[in-house]
Amino acid sequence: MYALQSAHAETPAERLAGLREQARALLEGERDSLANSANLAALIFHALPGLNWAGFYWMKGGELVLGPFQGKPACVRIALGRGVCGTAARERRTIVVPDVDKFPGHIACDSASRSEIVVPILRDGVVLGVLDIDSPSLARFDEEHARALEALVADFVAATDLDPRAG
Ligand code: SME
Repeated sequence: MYALQSAHAETPAERLAGLREQARALLEGERDSLANSANLAALIFHALPGLNWAGFYWMKGGELVLGPFQGKPACVRIALGRGVCGTAARERRTIVVPDVDKFPGHIACDSASRSEIVVPILRDGVVLGVLDIDSPSLARFDEEHARALEALVADFVAATDLDPRAG
């Protein structure tokens, strides 16, 4: 039986390593994309302290469309190149935003969000979507989060049957 273990890790690095370990356990033996993305959103939201939103947007018909998430209801469609999500998808790179008010074009879905990280979901160089995580604290995410979440997303892509129509 799977159990959330968010209280055990001491340092941010240990917490991120623990998150990846829990994610791998959660993904093992299941390849359904809706199930895996829904469970990952819940895992991230509960395992990392100080978040107000964690979830997925998928590329559909050339724009990002809301997928499984935890947090308040969010903007459903984001054009490529718009906001942090659309920029990360277009540039195919992780974007860490220490202060959302200083990111031109940031889309405020939840007015409580102060910082954000968006990791593109890539398969064979094609953007299938993004993982978006928001915090009500300034500078909640750094390069260590970026690398750890990229590794987690790579595990997710390898472990999941993603929609071949995406991208
Ligand atoms: N802030 C994001 C929009 C998505 S919400 O944060 C869930 C952006 O600027 O793309």
